[in-house]
Amino acid sequence: QPKAFLFDLDGVIVDTAHFHYQAWRRLANEKLGFDISEEFNESLKGVSRTESLERILAHGNVTLDAATKDAYATLKNDWYTELIHKMVPDDILPGVSEFLEKTRLAGIKIGLGSVSKNAIPILERIGILNAFDTIIDGTKITKGKPDPEVFLKGAEALGVVPEECVVFEDAVAGIEAAHRAGMKTVGIGLPSILTKADVVLANLNNLQIAELQNSLFSE
Ligand code: BG6
Ligand code: MG
Repeated sequence: QPKAFLFDLDGVIVDTAHFHYQAWRRLANEKLGFDISEEFNESLKGVSRTESLERILAHGNVTLDAATKDAYATLKNDWYTELIHKMVPDDILPGVSEFLEKTRLAGIKIGLGSVSKNAIPILERIGILNAFDTIIDGTKITKGKPDPEVFLKGAEALGVVPEECVVFEDAVAGIEAAHRAGMKTVGIGLPSILTKADVVLANLNNLQIAELQNSLFSE
């Protein structure tokens, strides 16, 4: 039986995955001289800011010195911050608030496991900071997904073992991180992309905990 649910933020609780893509795409277009596709963007999901820039540069065969990389990562984050500034509680993805409520009522602990350094301001903006028993974000970890650190720290903070955790993730790197941590996974998105997830759903809308328990923990 699950004792804790660990939620990724970007792309699971809010549609900020799209804002990350928009901001990286703008940087590629305006500063690097190439475009990045939505398909390539899948490989950036769940990956830290600096590692994302490295992947984009490698993708476009561009080499930059450390100072320029730093400046570009900051510029991307400035553009991203402008986008998230407009967010309101209505931007919480369908079914998320209800599912968090059901989770709480079922006595299951709730953690956030995100590599983003913008997690807390986003949760504040959308008004659900208090829904979480623990928040592990980019300021608390040294290794991004697919390293399992973020989820292992979440389990530890909640006082549960990994086998009792279910991770909700929209990123290929995040599903890998969860499995490396020894946890069950619910992919949020397309089965064709999240091929390694134990279960894949389009979103959390109308999700029943009993139903999930059956598909993840029976036999
Ligand atoms: C992850 C996103 O949640 O956070 C990535 O999926 C992003 O796209 C990463 O690069 C780091 O976020 P931030 O907000 O610290 O730049
Ligand atoms: Mg995500």
